[in-house]
Amino acid sequence: MFEPMWLSPKVIRPIVGTRRFYIEGLDFQDPVAARIYRELLDFFGASQAADRQCADLVFIMNSAALPAERDGAYRIHTEGDCVCIEGNTATALLYGLYGWVRRKACGQQIDDFESVPNQALRMIDHWDQTDGSVERGYAGESIFFGVLGSNSHADFRNFPDRRQDDPFRGDLARVTAYARLLASIGINAIALNNVNVRGEAKKLIVEPYLDRVAVLADIFGQFGIRVFLSVNFASPIDVGGLSTADPLADEVSAWWEKIVDNVYQRIPAFGGFLVKADAEGEPGPMRYGRTHVDGANMLARPLSRHGGLVIWRAFVYDCNQDWRDRSLDRAKSAYENFIGLDGLFAENVVLQVKFGPIDFQVSEPANPLIGRMTHTNLMIEFQITAEYLGQQIDVNYVLPQWLAMTNWDTCAPQVDARVKAVVPKLCLVSAHTGFAGVSNVGMDDNWTGNTLAQANLYGFGRMCWDPDATAGSILDEWMTLTFPGLRGPAREAVSEIMLTSNKTFKNYTAPLGVGFMVKPGLHYGVDVNGYEYDRWGTYHFADRDGIGVDRTQSTGTGFTAQYHQALEERFEHAETTPDDLLLFFHHLPYDHVLHDGQTLIQHIYSSHFEGVKEVERYITLWKKVKGLIPQADWENVADRLQAQKADAVEWRDQINTYFHRMSGVPDRLGRKIYA
Ligand code: GCU
Repeated sequence: MFEPMWLSPKVIRPIVGTRRFYIEGLDFQDPVAARIYRELLDFFGASQAADRQCADLVFIMNSAALPAERDGAYRIHTEGDCVCIEGNTATALLYGLYGWVRRKACGQQIDDFESVPNQALRMIDHWDQTDGSVERGYAGESIFFGVLGSNSHADFRNFPDRRQDDPFRGDLARVTAYARLLASIGINAIALNNVNVRGEAKKLIVEPYLDRVAVLADIFGQFGIRVFLSVNFASPIDVGGLSTADPLADEVSAWWEKIVDNVYQRIPAFGGFLVKADAEGEPGPMRYGRTHVDGANMLARPLSRHGGLVIWRAFVYDCNQDWRDRSLDRAKSAYENFIGLDGLFAENVVLQVKFGPIDFQVSEPANPLIGRMTHTNLMIEFQITAEYLGQQIDVNYVLPQWLAMTNWDTCAPQVDARVKAVVPKLCLVSAHTGFAGVSNVGMDDNWTGNTLAQANLYGFGRMCWDPDATAGSILDEWMTLTFPGLRGPAREAVSEIMLTSNKTFKNYTAPLGVGFMVKPGLHYGVDVNGYEYDRWGTYHFADRDGIGVDRTQSTGTGFTAQYHQALEERFEHAETTPDDLLLFFHHLPYDHVLHDGQTLIQHIYSSHFEGVKEVERYITLWKKVKGLIPQADWENVADRLQAQKADAVEWRDQINTYFHRMSGVPDRLGRKIYA
């Protein structure tokens, strides 16, 4: 049995203590209410009191107590020794239960405390495939799918009728533990399968697979989490046997309507569909000369009758770009494809936008659509799985980067134009906006490959919920809940590693906003020119004189024009562009002087030397932690730190040698660069 990392009974029960609980006003027909009851008895080891007077933990369902517009809000107050948790839904009370445990464990104030989620939709997107693999997964096989016998962890007892070709793993204990773990950080939606919907996955929307999805949806539903499925836009052809998937063809919309009605008959609380259309080779409405609006709204119609959503991805770009044509710019794609459609999507369509204009890089500006689309529901997409961020080998606590993004000022003419504030404000229905994160879990014992990568999953949920959370406060919570024995210098060591790790990774992989110098396809390890003469539109344009992408309007691709004026002006000029994003917006000579007084080439050399030094320091710091956390976790990270060092050394030497050869400029400090 796998224990969820920060909700292990061993850790939690002593914190909860022997409590006697009493629940007021909940209808136990509600699966979440029933779950609260079971959690208290079975998981937290509390007992039920005969009446309120005998209880020291009281749950009160009170619909008037909290702001109705934010589902899930709860209040905790104490009356003597008695803790009262109030909420306006059963799910809010469940959040209150986990919130109380967390605050108690972390020594935070619990007397008269109100907690309101910042984002309405707090979603995890799995890129799990029905063969058991996970696209961009670095923590073992899928926890949902897996062909029989393909994984030693598989526990098939829960699906006694499971046949050889059944793609569902059926490890319901693991799914339950996962659902608890997600609910404990406030997640309320999940997509079970990869956005690239191939093979058997196309059939998840119909029987017999739909029956299996219903079982999983039932488990997640007990924890207040709505299940979504990714669908293939060509399903009417591939699953339905029609000759077209044209969204304006009557037989196509009739087919989807039947599918949707049937899904809701099996799963009344079904969330809806997640769709990657006309992107990276996936089918979509444009194949039929139709628009994204035609496609999304066609699916939205039948879903709206059941309260379902269409989450339509804005990750649409030409992946057959000609590298020879310097005027083309992939960064402009999302905006160009969608800005003209603002206001045309149905109320139950949510446009899911990657946080940056390229693709989950360690250094990117915000996607200009955010704050510009004012009549469309947006969901901002983050990638918890570390595809471009070290793949859960290299330690990379990404919250500093994400929080910089959620606090990014879009300069939209609003009172508060930060990303986290404009998303629920500039939309059709704020309940249909939020954040999504691509999952980083798998069947590995520690869930996330690298034990320290758990903090990114934990942090994603906390970031969606708490607008004031900082990278440090989130990390502190995670450390306390995961390694309760960790104190003093050892705890400081973990903290130091984690809080500097995102910058360290950036230092040796992505100087000043240049990305994608990775091995093509794999996306781990250095390959300076791996994507330079390719069709994917991700170039650095280094030559003997300089490096970077000119995205200005005066001499470049004109991408800067997509931002609100204040940002447009800032990024149009190198002098006002922050160094961190300098080469994202400008092509500059190697002797360009940065704000800190260094030349560009000297920065490239120094950041790479520094990156390796930092990883060496992490190896030393990690030794302080030995013996204070479970040995398996310690070794898991210690091994990965060695691999990270080898990775960082390779990055340093290849990048420094490459740019030394290109520029002919020696390192001012005379450090070793292989000529
Ligand atoms: C990245 C990733 C793909 C993924 C795509 C997406 O490009 O490498 O594996 O399918 O993003 O977000 O759709």
